[in-house]
Formats: sequence, structure tokens, C-alpha cells
Amino acid sequence: MAKSGESEDTQDIFSELLYEIFTSPLNLFLLAVCAILVYKIFRPSDGSGAASGPVEPPVPKMKRQDMTLEQLRQYDGTGEHSRVCVGVNGKIFDVTRGKKFYGPGGPYAAFAGHDATRALATFSVNDVKDGYDDLSDLSSMQMDSVREWEMQFTEKYDYVGKLLKPGEQPTEYSDEEDAKDNKTKKDE
Ligand code: HEM
Repeated sequence: MAKSGESEDTQDIFSELLYEIFTSPLNLFLLAVCAILVYKIFRPSDGSGAASGPVEPPVPKMKRQDMTLEQLRQYDGTGEHSRVCVGVNGKIFDVTRGKKFYGPGGPYAAFAGHDATRALATFSVNDVKDGYDDLSDLSSMQMDSVREWEMQFTEKYDYVGKLLKPGEQPTEYSDEEDAKDNKTKKDE
């Protein structure tokens, strides 16, 4: 007896939940946004391969270099460079391996060739500025989340160099430093 009461309760909660979702325009909108993002991430990039298969041959590692925002802009995956780079918390990462996310048509294409820090902090994909962003208005919680994102990018992608502030001079990296970095990455 108690069992059937419990299952009726569960059914009631379930129908209430469905009612809540499908009668609120905001919930419907959020559901649609989720569905579109999930679709964009998991669909095959074209007819040529499955979503999980490699789309392009891996590109060689980039030479260690600092970049201005203008230089970073060249690496949005659309121009002469098919490479994609993204700035996160003052660091530039080569995210070409994640082209399905950041390449043209990808869900995070707005980050390509740009400083993505603010967008990651506010969790809003299009919150990407064209000019230099000193991030001084971000809260400490937002900065914490930026540091977490930075760690994720460090684990998954190659570090290219610093994103230069206006007027900042690039560091001259020696070939030995570059080789040392490669070795450290391989040993990890
Ligand atoms: C409804 C909202 C969202 C859904 C359903 C969603 C879903 C996903 C999924 C499924 C992945 C792939 C995880 C993997 O395979 O490793 C992913 C990765 C990611 N998402 Fe989202 N996401 C959403 C919103 C956002 C927003 C608002 C941002 C940032 C502003 C964001 C930034 C990222 C980043 C940077 C990655 C990592 C891609 C990489 O590995 O390089 N996502 N997301």
C-alpha cells in the first residue's frame, strides 16, 4: 500500500516538474539554448567524419612567443593561419586541437583569436571585447573561476606565450627554452 503511495508521489513530482518546465517561457528558452549547444558540440563537422574522429592532421607545435591582441587576432582559424589561439588570464593557448569548439561554426568560435577571459568569468560566450581588457571590474569569485579555466586550458592545450598589455615588450625566447618546454610537456 505504502509502495503505491510512494510511486504516486514520485509521479506527481515528475508531472509537476514537467509542467514547470514546459509552461515557463524562460525555461523553454534555456532548454532550447542547451539543446543547440549540445548539438553544435557533438555534431560531425562535415560529412567527412564522425564527431569523435580527427578532422585535420595535427599541426606542429608553435614557437614560444608573446603576442599583442592584434597578433592574436590572426589566429581565429579563418585567415591564412588555420591555427586557433585563445587568450585566458594573460596567457595564450594554441587550441587548434579543439577546433570543433573554437573553429568557425563552433559553439565557442567567439573566443578564437581573442582574449576569452571575461566571457569565461561571466559564463557568457559573447562577452568578448575587441580592445584591451584589464578585467579590473571582475569580482573575486569571477577571478577564481578564471583561474580554474586557466588550469583546464594549461592541462589540455599548449601554452604559446603571454598576451601583451598595450606598450608591453615581448620576451625574446631562446630555442633552448622552447626545447625545454617541449621536453617538460612530453615528460608530464
Ligand atoms: C547550456 C549551456 C552549455 C552547455 C550545455 C555546454 C556544454 C558543454 C560541453 C558538452 C562541453 C564539452 C566537454 C568535453 O567534451 O570535454 C563543453 C565544453 C566547454 N564549454 Fe560549455 N556548455 C555550455 C555553456 C558554456 C558557456 C556559457 C561557456 C563560456 C562562456 C562555455 C565554455 C566551455 C569551454 C571553454 C569548454 C571547453 C572546450 C575545450 O575542451 O576546449 N560553455 N561545454
